Amino acid sequence: MEKLTFSLGNRSYPIIISSGLCNNICSLWHLKINDKALIVTNQTLGALYLDRLIKLMQTAKIQVDHIILPDGEQYKTLDTINKIINLLLKQLHDRNTTLIALGGGVVGDLTGFAASIYQRGIRFIQIPTTLLAQVDASIGGKTGVNHLLGKNMIGSFHQPTLVIIDTDFLISLPSREFNSGLSEIIKYGIILDSTFFQWIEENLHLLLALDTSKLIYCIRRCCELKSSLVSSDEYEIKNRALLNLGHTFGHAIEAYTGYGKWLHGEAVAAGIVMAVRTAERLGQFKSIEGNRIVKLLKRANLPIRGPLEMLPENYLPYMMRDKKTISGQLRLILPLTIGIAEIRHDVPNQLILEAINDCQNIH
Ligand SMILES: NC(=O)c1ccc[n+]([C@@H]2O[C@H](COP(=O)([O-])OP(=O)(O)OC[C@H]3O[C@@H](n4cnc5c(N)ncnc54)[C@H](O)[C@@H]3O)[C@@H](O)[C@H]2O)c1
Ligand SMILES: [Zn+2]
Repeated sequence: MEKLTFSLGNRSYPIIISSGLCNNICSLWHLKINDKALIVTNQTLGALYLDRLIKLMQTAKIQVDHIILPDGEQYKTLDTINKIINLLLKQLHDRNTTLIALGGGVVGDLTGFAASIYQRGIRFIQIPTTLLAQVDASIGGKTGVNHLLGKNMIGSFHQPTLVIIDTDFLISLPSREFNSGLSEIIKYGIILDSTFFQWIEENLHLLLALDTSKLIYCIRRCCELKSSLVSSDEYEIKNRALLNLGHTFGHAIEAYTGYGKWLHGEAVAAGIVMAVRTAERLGQFKSIEGNRIVKLLKRANLPIRGPLEMLPENYLPYMMRDKKTISGQLRLILPLTIGIAEIRHDVPNQLILEAINDCQNIH
């Protein structure tokens, strides 16, 4: 079992990574006999894992309720938040209740947001079940829901009190979802750690084969890299923004195609290539490194270009609406070399359009 601490002063919390963890986890939860908890999950995870989790918690004499949400990014909305709040109120949950997110990034973002606003904020635990949530979404405290006009436009910063990562969940995860998580893993290598990027190049086949020790190492490294950025910049005033490599382009793809058609990691993969091409056009990134990135994304079975029907000019309106815009000027994360990236506010729209156009013909 690996344990790291997400450092944030008196809001620091443990991240526990192992395989088969959920079988003996209750002692680690800091929940006491008769404490109340509400598990938030969706139909898919509910069918697979909910009974087991409820039994574990009941054995530890925790009073546990649950809510099963419909599955899908299209349900990451204020309506769903309302359902969670209604249940909490109906079942007389007070400020001592702990919410438990059992699911991927969608369940995690919804649960965290509900926890941040219920009675001005209650505790919550993340049990991420997708690779993407295990390496990214479950840590760092960003919570929220989508609006018709933009992704993650309503939300808050609210840190969990504990993150429990069990690689066994990945066994039932569809491979398309697994690959989507690889996109964020590759992202960490590009923005922060060239040695890790090379490690991914060398070990990708073992990750794809669900090798437990490689998965644990990889998830741990991603959690460390994310923690290092977020601990020093929780509210994304400076370097936390580096984590958004590929996301401004990717969010445009997700919104244009309708949430759920393109998986988040797929859209981010295409977005990373667009950021790479933008950096190449600016003359700040070598095409030989760009080609290494494209090759790795392809090996991870990820898309390297956006949807065929989406023209370069379709991107900009969505990109301008992204939270990454400051005073109308797009904020882009661009690589300088593999392992180092920078935040830019001065890239002309015309150059961005040309870079997106470069990607239309890539294969
Ligand atoms: N808060 C953050 O910092 C942050 C970071 C990155 C992404 N996100 C958000 O996360 C969301 C994407 O998360 P995701 O990729 O985990 O998608 P997801 O939560 O939609 O899960 C993907 C699919 O896999 C299913 N699933 C999950 N775990 C499973 C398992 N173990 N076995 C079988 N099926 C399983 C889910 O039911 C769902 O159908 C997006 O909304 C994105 O905005 C948030
Ligand atoms: Zn992401």
